[in-house]
Amino acid sequence: AQSERESLFIVNNFARDYFQNILKNHVDGRSIGMAYFRSRGFRDDIIEKFQLGYCTESHDALALEALNKGYKKDYLVKTGLCYETDDHRLRDRFWGRVIFPVHTLSGKVVAFGGRVLAGATKGVKVKYVNSPESEIYHKSNELYGIYFAKQAIVKQDRCFLVEGYTDVISMHQSGIENVVASSGTALTPGQIRMIHRFTNNMTVLYDGDAAGIKASIRGIDMLLEEGMNVKVCLLPDGDDPDSFARKHNATEFQNFIQENETDFIRFKTNLLLEDAGKDPIKRAELIGNLVQSISIIPEAIVRDVYVKECAQLLHVEDKLLVSEVAKRREKQA
Ligand code: CTP
Ligand code: MN
Ligand code: MN
Ligand code: MN
Ligand code: MN
Repeated sequence: AQSERESLFIVNNFARDYFQNILKNHVDGRSIGMAYFRSRGFRDDIIEKFQLGYCTESHDALALEALNKGYKKDYLVKTGLCYETDDHRLRDRFWGRVIFPVHTLSGKVVAFGGRVLAGATKGVKVKYVNSPESEIYHKSNELYGIYFAKQAIVKQDRCFLVEGYTDVISMHQSGIENVVASSGTALTPGQIRMIHRFTNNMTVLYDGDAAGIKASIRGIDMLLEEGMNVKVCLLPDGDDPDSFARKHNATEFQNFIQENETDFIRFKTNLLLEDAGKDPIKRAELIGNLVQSISIIPEAIVRDVYVKECAQLLHVEDKLLVSEVAKRREKQA
């Protein structure tokens, strides 16, 4: 019901304020949580802006405080902030983690991500824990950072897509605010349409590792299918936008993107060519792969531009690609 949704948002707001207060004022919050963010180079204004927080090692501090303040157990469980153990005790989902609230397009807190602290990474705990799906949180319809990015996306007429929470935050700190994160999962059409309301232009800036490259390739086709213009910027091997931002100043970061972003055809062609070398069968496969990507672009004029560019890069006739793209489109129709 509508009133239940409202209640869940109210409980999330309470938790957001609670985690923030712990981070800033509680002994452990300051010496553990804040120390962690500082060690990552996050500035105070950025910590405030993104409403970052900390949940103490105690397994039920939030639960007790919430119940004490009159928030219902039912809502604490439904938001995923707490869960019930077999012996009916209430436990905090995010204990011992720094907290990243996830905001909707209009700035409401729908979910949280919690990260283990540096030392704990190699332990048994997984690096990030996220709120489960709930009546108010459908992961596939939300994008981390969109609330803080939308104005800049409109102004720049471009959106950067990164993998993670800290990538969004570090880029803001470097003055690049038109950035959202897919939070480590595959992009959904709903997420792409949300960005498409603000711009046609997307630059994929995923981690410079094998997983990031693979995810970029997948993301490109999703974006093309939704009619977005797609560019890709590959980061140096082993870097993600956050680590890169820490090694370079804002100007260097922006220059790096400007110099290294390429349109998707160039990105895919170079990547696949590296793999295929002179092997004719692999080259034929590569052409098929590129033709497939071009064929899912909704706009004929845009397809034509990419066909020409692709033909040039691969030293094949335009005509050949045009007819191959047409064949694929017939099959898809
Ligand atoms: N992620 C997740 N659960 C995990 C690992 C990752 O939900 N166990 C999501 C998080 O949103 C994370 C994003 O995927 O931000 C990217 O993952 P990764 O690159 O591994 O983490 P980073 O964002 O680089 O985090 P950090 O710099 O803190 O290690
Ligand atoms: Mn459009
Ligand atoms: Mn990654
Ligand atoms: Mn990363
Ligand atoms: Mn990282």
